[in-house]
Amino acid sequence: MKYIRYVKSQCPGVLGGMYFWMYFLYLMHFLYKTETRNLFLMQEVFQMEGIEKVCQFLDEAHVYYLATVEGEQPRCRPFGTSLLYDGKLYIQTGKVKEVSKQIAVNPKVEICAFNGGKWLRVAGELVNDDNRDVKVAMLEKFPTLKSMYSADDDNTQVLYFKNAVATFSSFTEKPEVIKF
Ligand SMILES: Cc1cc2nc3c(=O)[nH]c(=O)nc-3n(C[C@H](O)[C@H](O)[C@H](O)COP(=O)(O)O)c2cc1C
Repeated sequence: MKYIRYVKSQCPGVLGGMYFWMYFLYLMHFLYKTETRNLFLMQEVFQMEGIEKVCQFLDEAHVYYLATVEGEQPRCRPFGTSLLYDGKLYIQTGKVKEVSKQIAVNPKVEICAFNGGKWLRVAGELVNDDNRDVKVAMLEKFPTLKSMYSADDDNTQVLYFKNAVATFSSFTEKPEVIKF
């Protein structure tokens, strides 16, 4: 109120009131825009922390199981590759494999890993990415793959999770759900 009285005293009359309200609205608009931006940034930070936690769990578990669907039949196999690149969780496979063909027909998958009394499930869709840089980064993270794959062969495939729901579970704690 003190400020309102001050501004009014500086700009008396109807004009003063008008300037005051124009300034007030401008200020509110500015604050709203800044706050909205901050909220989006915070959301991104939380999302980032979540996906990092998922990737770290997969790294520490070393092995996870990837389930795909073939018609009406679920298919499951051990996998070990995971990479956080450009804010996305990637896995790697070979295009010649049945798993790759199944994902091409139906990209809905689920992975499951167990480590240290906790298990993680990530359900989502896998999206093929032809970005060579990701393939190189994946092979750098898992150098043993280099004897079978290269970034420039026609076989190496990297895919990232879209619309993913990751759930950490244990017998003692409430499930923790992370979406990315
Ligand atoms: C510990 C472990 C980790 C593996 N990691 C991967 C992997 O990250 N990517 C992959 O394509 N195959 C991986 N494999 C091999 C696949 O499990 C294997 O090729 C499987 O047969 C592929 O499934 P499909 O026969 O339905 O195509 C891994 C195997 C083991 C034992």
